[in-house]
Amino acid sequence: MTVMTTPGQNSLDDLQTAPPVFRRGTNLIAVASGKGGVGKTWFSITLAQAMAQAGKKVLLFDGDLGLANIDVQLGLMPKRDLNDVIRGRLGMDKVIQRYEDGGFDIVAGRSGQASLSALPSQRLALLRDQLIDVADEYDAVILDLGAGVDRTVRMLSASSTRTLLVTTDEPTSLTDAYAFIKLGSTAGLSKNIGIVINQASSSLEGEKTYKTLLKACENFLRLKPPLVGMVRHDPRVKETIRHQTPILTRSPGADAAQDVAKIAQVMISDLADVKKSALGG
Ligand SMILES: Nc1ncnc2c1ncn2[C@@H]1O[C@H](COP(=O)(O)OP(=O)(O)O)[C@@H](O)[C@H]1O
Ligand SMILES: [Mg+2]
Repeated sequence: MTVMTTPGQNSLDDLQTAPPVFRRGTNLIAVASGKGGVGKTWFSITLAQAMAQAGKKVLLFDGDLGLANIDVQLGLMPKRDLNDVIRGRLGMDKVIQRYEDGGFDIVAGRSGQASLSALPSQRLALLRDQLIDVADEYDAVILDLGAGVDRTVRMLSASSTRTLLVTTDEPTSLTDAYAFIKLGSTAGLSKNIGIVINQASSSLEGEKTYKTLLKACENFLRLKPPLVGMVRHDPRVKETIRHQTPILTRSPGADAAQDVAKIAQVMISDLADVKKSALGG
């Protein structure tokens, strides 16, 4: 079930205005971060594969418009990508490709295409609508977003069922995660944000990192974003990226892979709950 908006209600250009009502999917998981390079793309790929291995039909969408890199991490050479959709050459359903090794489908982005990162709101809303339409064919759609909280990120995040905000324990990453939550709450995103601590040196350290962020959110924003999970720092992440093979294929027993598999289970039951309440049950 999706919530419709009236035309012209979608512009989030002015964060001072009341948060608009977005058309929202019931099975979209956005992966966001304040700072870049925290592991969003790697995490999105691994989450997609983990959910697929749990029997779900999954689509991974490269929403880092203009700086796409899902295809790079997986060593793919997509013949069609989001650029074809944005230019009106192809419908979203026509650019979906099967990634057999991972057991899930992909909508690839296009790197270095400036026009993609600066899409007008209306174009973006059309893209979002097409995405929500194809999402009907899947159990879950995972959106790998760009870093920061620009207009594209706000819209795609607000249209998602959940936003997983990825942070590491680095002070800059934490500060930017806090800024994301703060700006996101003005844009009406706060209720759907869950935290993922990545590259934790241990579970205990990850817990500490989360508590630091939680405290700031409670004290200054009166928000309590829940912890969705922690992913340990693991040398096999870099190694598998270098081999352009997903970690659950190359090193399924790796700590980091197992940690994401746990998060996949959390998200599967979360989406099931959302579905139940959407059906009024
Ligand atoms: N759990 C982890 N353990 C070790 N290194 C990681 C982990 N997660 C991410 N990385 C490292 O972070 C780098 C950036 O990841 P990437 O997915 O490209 O981040 P983003 O999409 O947020 O920019 C990767 O190349 C990898 O080396
Ligand atoms: Mg990325």
